[in-house]
Amino acid sequence: MSLGLQAKALTTTLLLGLLLSACQPPGQNADGSATFLPAERELIFSLTPLGEPPPNPSNRYADKADAARLGQQLFYDARLSGKGNLSCASCHNPALGWSDGRPKAVGISTGTRNSPTLWNVSHQRWLFWDGRADSLWAQSIQPLESPLEMGATRTGLYQTFQREADLKQAYQKVFGPMPVSRSAINQSTDWKSLPEADKVAVNRFVSHLGKAFEAFERKLVSGESDFDRFARGLRDNDPKLQKAMSVDAQLGLRLFIGRAQCVLCHSGPNFSDGEFHNLGLPAIPGVAADEGRHAGIQAVLADPLNSLGRFSDADPDDTWADKLRYLSQHNSNRGEFRTPTLREVEHSGPYMHDGRFSNLEQVIAFYNTPEVHTPALGRREDTLQPLRLSAEEIKQLSAFLKSLSSGPPAVALTKPPA
Ligand code: HEC
Ligand code: HEC
Repeated sequence: MSLGLQAKALTTTLLLGLLLSACQPPGQNADGSATFLPAERELIFSLTPLGEPPPNPSNRYADKADAARLGQQLFYDARLSGKGNLSCASCHNPALGWSDGRPKAVGISTGTRNSPTLWNVSHQRWLFWDGRADSLWAQSIQPLESPLEMGATRTGLYQTFQREADLKQAYQKVFGPMPVSRSAINQSTDWKSLPEADKVAVNRFVSHLGKAFEAFERKLVSGESDFDRFARGLRDNDPKLQKAMSVDAQLGLRLFIGRAQCVLCHSGPNFSDGEFHNLGLPAIPGVAADEGRHAGIQAVLADPLNSLGRFSDADPDDTWADKLRYLSQHNSNRGEFRTPTLREVEHSGPYMHDGRFSNLEQVIAFYNTPEVHTPALGRREDTLQPLRLSAEEIKQLSAFLKSLSSGPPAVALTKPPA
């Protein structure tokens, strides 16, 4: 090509480029896909990839295969409930995003809160909507004993494992001999009334069950989502990979990390800061206001299975338990709930701690106009300001949230182990 021709070709390309970009809204490529500024790219890369669950030094069985296998067996076993008719999977159904599709959980009777997903739950530092457990192993005894959920007791569970030969054998394979209790205990014995040594024996036993549950739950980590693929494409400058996300989802991503400010709380690769916030959700007539974190702090500090207790496997000077050491209750904790993960979120509706929203568009519509509601308790965080999103932008944000899915869980995890 002669110099003249080359120059002519260049001018044509430039002109074409200019023309095309003149037709495009700012921040979008000719094909409509989003362009991202360096600061935006940084934020995007802070959200991916998810990676392995962080270590939990309070559970020495956390990454042991035989403990995970036992945990999986117990997760699907209804003999652990008071009446033998409910298992963890009744409310954490793998086919429903490890949730139950209901606004509020239904066990022995209807509870007051929504069953959260268990996807990536091992990435959370506090468990439950109010953070009243500080480890997955301590968490698991609560649904077992809740009179609204599984209705068992820790003494009753101890009896069940003594009685059912297969359960006892499976337990002893992982943890060694069952701790010995000298009292005549049964399902209705209150463990708090036992002599000290037996109290310890029974609590040691349930903490082991919890450690097996946790080992299984650490396997519930979601795979590479369309968003992760897109971000990899952005990093490696691979336009084909970037097609993993629709144009709508890309524009939704830009809102998520930008004008809509979602990333302030839904941060990091699990899309959760692991902390508690008051969003100012309004009261629902006839429903008692939920204290949230305020009551959760009191409960976790009082729990004998917390990380400061004798059943933790962490070194006494490990920093693991620091989150408890420096914890105290404040008025500002009223009406706060823990930021949930948004990975796989499209599968685990209804949404919020009380399941008040049945779809993602409703959740986003709430964030769009938080100022029109009177908070049920306490005061709405200042970070939540009117967003003035158009209907189109609400659709884009919702498309982005749906790009955080990675497909169904591995079949081997969705039933008792072979
Ligand atoms: C009757 C339904 C029901 C059953 C049965 C049930 N859960 Fe849950 N689960 C819930 C609800 C509701 C919550 C939230 C409660 C709250 O925050 O107060 C929850 C919370 C959790 C959490 C915390 C998740 C998070 O993001 O913080 C974990 C982990 C969990 N359950 C595991 C289990 C295990 C293990 C079992 C069996 C031992 C079990 N659940 C049985 C309904 C149930
Ligand atoms: C101030 C912190 C904060 C900001 C900002 C924020 N969220 Fe949330 N998000 C939370 C908390 C806390 C909850 C749980 C609230 C509850 O249940 O009462 C939540 C719940 C959700 C849920 C429900 C998930 C579930 O499993 O029930 C979705 C979806 C969601 N947020 C998306 C967004 C989007 C999209 C934005 C931006 C428009 C956003 N959030 C901004 C803290 C925040």
